[in-house]
Amino acid sequence: MRRILLLLLILLLIPGLARMETLVCDASQPVHEMSDTLYGLFFEDINHAADGGLYAELLQNRSFEYEDLTNPTPYQHLTGWQFNVTAESDGTVVLETADPLHENNPCYAHIQAGSAGYAFQNLGYGSSAFWGGICIEPGARYDVSLWLRCTEGSGHVEAALTTRAGQRLSDTVQFTPGDSWERHAGVLTANAQAQDACLTFTLSGAVTVDADMASLMPQDRVGASWPGGGMRRDLVEALKELHPRFLRFPGGCVAEGSWVWDNLYRWKDTVGPVEQRKENWNTWGYMQSYGIGFYEYFCLCEELGALPLPVVGSGVLCQTREPRESPMNEQELAEWTQDILDLMEFALGGADTEWGALRCEMGHPAPFDLRYLAIGNENWADDYFTRYESISAAVKSAWPGITCIVACGPVAEGGLFNASRARILRSFPDDTADEHYYMESSWFLRNTHRYDHYPRGTKVFLGEYAAHEPAAGGKRPNNLYSALCEAAYLTGIERNSDVVVMCCYAPLMARLGMEQWTPDLILFNGAQAVRTPNYYIQQMFASALGDQLIQSKMTDQGGKTVKDVIAGLYHVASAAADGQVYVKLVNVSGKDRQITVQILGKALSDRTEGDMVLLTGEKQAVNGPGNETVVPQHSTVVFQNGSAEIALPGYAAVILTIP
Ligand code: AHR
Repeated sequence: MRRILLLLLILLLIPGLARMETLVCDASQPVHEMSDTLYGLFFEDINHAADGGLYAELLQNRSFEYEDLTNPTPYQHLTGWQFNVTAESDGTVVLETADPLHENNPCYAHIQAGSAGYAFQNLGYGSSAFWGGICIEPGARYDVSLWLRCTEGSGHVEAALTTRAGQRLSDTVQFTPGDSWERHAGVLTANAQAQDACLTFTLSGAVTVDADMASLMPQDRVGASWPGGGMRRDLVEALKELHPRFLRFPGGCVAEGSWVWDNLYRWKDTVGPVEQRKENWNTWGYMQSYGIGFYEYFCLCEELGALPLPVVGSGVLCQTREPRESPMNEQELAEWTQDILDLMEFALGGADTEWGALRCEMGHPAPFDLRYLAIGNENWADDYFTRYESISAAVKSAWPGITCIVACGPVAEGGLFNASRARILRSFPDDTADEHYYMESSWFLRNTHRYDHYPRGTKVFLGEYAAHEPAAGGKRPNNLYSALCEAAYLTGIERNSDVVVMCCYAPLMARLGMEQWTPDLILFNGAQAVRTPNYYIQQMFASALGDQLIQSKMTDQGGKTVKDVIAGLYHVASAAADGQVYVKLVNVSGKDRQITVQILGKALSDRTEGDMVLLTGEKQAVNGPGNETVVPQHSTVVFQNGSAEIALPGYAAVILTIP
């Protein structure tokens, strides 16, 4: 007896041996269907995710509309521009609004050149901590355009890529303005590489012109034929690689409007020709050009193979910002509801309807595949729920197939959350409740069983979430550890995907050095996209999802069930209709584990080769531009008689795909 006890003690003390576990997954024991819309994306123009990011436009404040709603000054209208670039020439520039090219685009620059050589330039999206200005590549071609009107004298305007000092970095194109507004366009080919280039316009003589709606876009972009002009290819690719099943847009706080009703995101301002879109101040501190508007969002969904999930205001401004104007009254709400019904018609209506016709005119005769509508973002309380009830009733009556999504406030727990949840269960039991929370990594680990206790039959959309490490230097960092905590949490989400039918990380993208919010999933500068460890977790989880959750159980060497929260070891398994089995394992402890994975209920040959994807590294590891240290590693895993030995390092996530 003493010998046996001694042996057991030795076994426990030898690290490798003491930490062996067995995971049994039974493909013949389906638990419930996996939601086929589980993993998606939330895109909001925060951190310059759209303007200065996904939107292919390289110029900032291209139409002189830049104006801070909360603190307007005339100088803001010239943000991003530099006039009188060369010392040899003289001239003046004033901001004008008389007889603009369109009433929605009222401001333009009135430029009077005293002599030949007067130049003005757009600096692009500078102030990045990494690279300022416009990044150009030698040989790359750029579509350039400018709306012009000549009001005195005659001459031409020459466009070129240059340094700030005016040194040429491309060939040139010439525009000859007439006496009425006209769009002039050409193509520039860069002859150098630069990270701080500008687009410079030079006047040929003593001529006076009005200039508006300048544009510079790389020819290599996605959606060049979309009216907005298209999107940055590398960023679209990064989104595609996440295998999203839906795309929530355009916000977030951006969708609701902040402080004043003028700030409400009105979808009608974002469609039609770009020069006729009505720009709006962005809650996050910059101007939204709406070059990516509702039409482009719908097109992006098609490009990504994702279902569109638009968010519209609820008649209550963002409730986390004060002071704010009163909620819409009955009359205002009726008008806003009509705008929302018009949006449904824009997406789904035929060519014989007013808004369906606009969609056709913009280039998309077929309806978009719109099945969801979120009404409100992070709203709560009676002001919101009464308006939600009224808008959702109108939407459901006009479009019975639509799933309405109801906001559940901005927090994960506590009185506000509980009251919102109770109200939703009572008043809108058939609608999907949109939960949002940004919490420390440890919270996610403690709450992986949150949804085990939700009543079955109710539906949740986890519309915004992210784990972060303790805040430092005004930022909330993410790293490998926070990514693994999200992964652990996602095992709980998959286990409960009969209730949690959709989820998406937030925010999705940030231009480095221009962030308003951390953490973020994809970081980028003018030339590169950086995939964070959190990105790779999203990618790994979304690309390996079965149709059915299957039973799985982890036991220790003594045959006892391993408690995930205690061991720091999380798992979930699912099976696809074609027979593939997916096993997900997450080790948030620093201890290496040896895990025997057994697959039951599936005919496997003596030797079956499966795929293994592993994400691991230093606990605090992060990825940066040109330095991605945490990336998924692919290898083959061999199952012998249905069983494989997996070496799972400390701080790691593994996904096994068994054919
Ligand atoms: O994702 C960033 C912001 O967080 C969203 O705009 C808002 O909904 C939430 O408060």
